[in-house]
Amino acid sequence: MTDILLGQVLSFDADPFAKGPEAARHEATGAVAIEAGKILAHGPAARIRAQFPQARVTDYGTCLISAGFIDAHVHYPQTAIIASWGKRLIDWLNTYTFPEEMRFADPAYAETIANRYLDLALAHGTTSMCSYTTIHPASVDAFFAAARARGLRAWAGKTCMDRNAPEGLRDTAQSAYDDSKALLHKWNGVDRLAYVITPRFSPTSTPEQLSALGALWGENPECLMQTHLSEQLDEIAWVRDLFPQARDYLDTYEAHGLLGAGGLYGHAIHLTPRERDRLRERDASLIHCPTSNTFIGSGLFDMSLAHTMRVGLATDTGGGSSFSMLRTMAAAYEVAQLRGTALHPSQLWWLATQGSARALRADTKIGNIAKGMEADLTIIDLASTPAIAQASARAQDIWQGLFPTIMLGDDRAIRATWIAGKNTARGAERTKP
Ligand code: GUN
Ligand code: ZN
Repeated sequence: MTDILLGQVLSFDADPFAKGPEAARHEATGAVAIEAGKILAHGPAARIRAQFPQARVTDYGTCLISAGFIDAHVHYPQTAIIASWGKRLIDWLNTYTFPEEMRFADPAYAETIANRYLDLALAHGTTSMCSYTTIHPASVDAFFAAARARGLRAWAGKTCMDRNAPEGLRDTAQSAYDDSKALLHKWNGVDRLAYVITPRFSPTSTPEQLSALGALWGENPECLMQTHLSEQLDEIAWVRDLFPQARDYLDTYEAHGLLGAGGLYGHAIHLTPRERDRLRERDASLIHCPTSNTFIGSGLFDMSLAHTMRVGLATDTGGGSSFSMLRTMAAAYEVAQLRGTALHPSQLWWLATQGSARALRADTKIGNIAKGMEADLTIIDLASTPAIAQASARAQDIWQGLFPTIMLGDDRAIRATWIAGKNTARGAERTKP
C-alpha cells in the first residue's frame, strides 16, 4: 500500500549553516509518497498524485510535513523529575536525579517510565532519540522494548558509574564492561535499535572504568559512545581535582579511548581551544541542550561551532525543562541571541532534524524528507493556538509562518507523527478524526 500525505512540505538539500536558508526546499502545496516504511517521492501535490494514482491519501491541509524531530540527548529515567526546582548540576544530581534513578532497580518502574517517556516524546513530534538509562541493565531492556514496540529508530545504553554516586547506583569497571557488552549484543541492530556505550561523565567513573568502556568501544567501533563534557564550571574544577594528570576535561576521555568519531559529547559549553581542536580533528559530535543549560544555569553554548563540526540538538530531559523540540529550538535561538547571533528558522529546524541525525551518524536514514529515507514524519499545525494563529496569519513566507510555532509552540502543534510509514495516531490527530 502506498500512502500520500498532502500538506506544506519542508526538506533540506544542504546544511543551512553552510548554504543559508536556500539549503531548504519548501513546497507550499506538496505531497510525500511513502511505501514499506520509506519515502518514495516528494514534490508538488499534483505531480505526486498523478504518479501514484492508487495511493491512499491523507490530506493535512496547510499543516507542515517535516522529518520527525530527533532528540540527540535525553535521560528517559528523569521523566518524572522534570522541572524540579532550584539546584545547580552537582546538587541537582544528588538531590533529584540519583534518588529517582535508584527506583529503576525495579524493572516494573523502568517499564512504566519508558512507556510514559516515549508516549510524551511522540506526542511532541519526536520520532527518534538517543537516551541515557540508569546503571540497571533492566532499565536498558525496558527502554529498548518500549521503543521496539513503537517501531522507533532509537539509541540507548547502560549509564555506567563506579564512584561518587550513592550505594545502589554504582557498578564496577568490570561489571560495567560485562553488562554493557551483554546489552550491546542483545540489542544493537535489533530492528531499528542501536546500543550506545555510556560512561555518565568523568566524575562518576574511575580511570579503570573509563578504560574498560574505551576498550569496549574499540572492540565495537560501529557503536556510538555518549557522555557529558564541560557543562558547569564547578564540574570542570572537580574533574581537575579527580584527574590531576589530565590536560583538560576532554583529556580524561581521550586518555581512556573515549574520544573519536561516533563520540557524542553533551553540553560542551566551556571548551578550551585545545578541546575544540581535538574534537574537530576526531570528527566528534557536540550535543547542544539549551533548555537544560539555562535551567541548571550551565552557560551559553557557542553555536558558531556548527559551521565546522557536527552539532545535534537535544532536550536533556529532565535537566532540560521540556519534552518539546520546538521549545528546545526556541531556547537555542535565545541562547544564540545572548551570544550575538540570530539563528535563522531554517538553521533551528535543521538542527532538530538533520543536524541531530548527522551528529548520530544516521543522516542517510532519518532527519530529512528525501527519496529512500525512512518515513518518520511529524505533521505540524502552524496555527495551533490563538496566539500562534494571529502571528502566523501575517506571514509573507514559510519562515515567518514557522517562527511563531518555533517560539510559542508545544505538543498542541503536533497534528500527527508517522513512524516508519505508519500513522501512530499520537498528537492532536487522535482527538480530531
Ligand atoms: N552530568 C552528568 N549526569 C548528568 C545528568 O543526568 N544531567 C545533566 N544535565 N548533566 C549531567
Ligand atoms: Zn545529560
